[in-house]
Amino acid sequence: MNDERKVPDLGRQQPSSSQTHLNLRNRPRRLRQSAGIRDLTRETRLSADMLVYPLFICEGTKIRREIPSMPGINQLSVDEAVIEVSSAIEDGVRAVLLFGLPAHKDNYGSSASDPNAPVQKAIRAFRTQFECLTIITDVCLCEYTSHGHCGLLNGKQILNDTTVTLLVDAALSHAESGAHVVAPSDMMDGRVGAIRTGLDQRGFHDVAIMSYAAKYCSAFYGPFRDAADSAPAFGDRRTHQMDPANTDEALREVALDLEEGADIVMVKPAMPYLDIIQRIKTQFQRPTAAYQVSGEYSMLKAAAQRNWIDEPLAMLESLTAIKRAGADIIITYYARDVARLL
Ligand code: PBG
Repeated sequence: MNDERKVPDLGRQQPSSSQTHLNLRNRPRRLRQSAGIRDLTRETRLSADMLVYPLFICEGTKIRREIPSMPGINQLSVDEAVIEVSSAIEDGVRAVLLFGLPAHKDNYGSSASDPNAPVQKAIRAFRTQFECLTIITDVCLCEYTSHGHCGLLNGKQILNDTTVTLLVDAALSHAESGAHVVAPSDMMDGRVGAIRTGLDQRGFHDVAIMSYAAKYCSAFYGPFRDAADSAPAFGDRRTHQMDPANTDEALREVALDLEEGADIVMVKPAMPYLDIIQRIKTQFQRPTAAYQVSGEYSMLKAAAQRNWIDEPLAMLESLTAIKRAGADIIITYYARDVARLL
């Protein structure tokens, strides 16, 4: 290139302005030259109030059991969960998403709607102690069934409509305990509408629904299934969770859930599905959540433990990408760490 040849041989000297042959009016580097000007012109900002911190609640007392595949994340009994949440609030976290590890599992996942199961107890404890906390509960049967599937089985088939009835019971029991938002993650057809009707009939008009609307059948849930002891005993979740190759279908799922009464729609996982987050936010302009799932977290953790990446930077970059794509709400196991940095 001609320009290249015109660059003077500087030897040991610094270039003076007269030696510069470029005459650039646009210098994008102007706005990158100091931390102050970079901060001023940043387009995407994370804030602690968009974060949701997932918690795994188990039976018993004084239990804080680290999940081997998710360093830093624990299964917690209710008393320990109260301690955890009060520290999380000090860090700046304002919302939690609760998963339950019941003592009793059966074919019907009956503990899912037991008023004395860990999640229901945790909701009541949090409601009395933390006024500023938004309590969201995961509604699914997979943590409660002995076979680890998200619904009732007929042989190897997961039954849709009977499962929905049980999900409504679970959502109602969370609402009765005081949940602000219920989050069905099962991907059965029609569950959002059924839950909305069930809540309204019982007077829970103000309990919101955050639907896992575009939930993909993902390999990135691996560590979660250790955490929640919910790996399916046979087969997989392909007959209800979405094929990772599909985008239009995600938009149809979101449209259906919104018609059925979803208040917030979620995309899950987050980082491998940034295009989906963006399309959903652009098309529907509704509160949109993204779940940075267990496998996304564990990958970053594992690389950081080997000093292969800088963990705080990689964490912030991944969460910024999720926000940039259009997420209003981010569910992340890093919630406490990010909140502390912000
Ligand atoms: C329950 C549920 C799962 C996750 C959230 N809710 C597991 C699954 O669908 O197998 C995964 C969350 C994570 O990986 O962090 N159905």
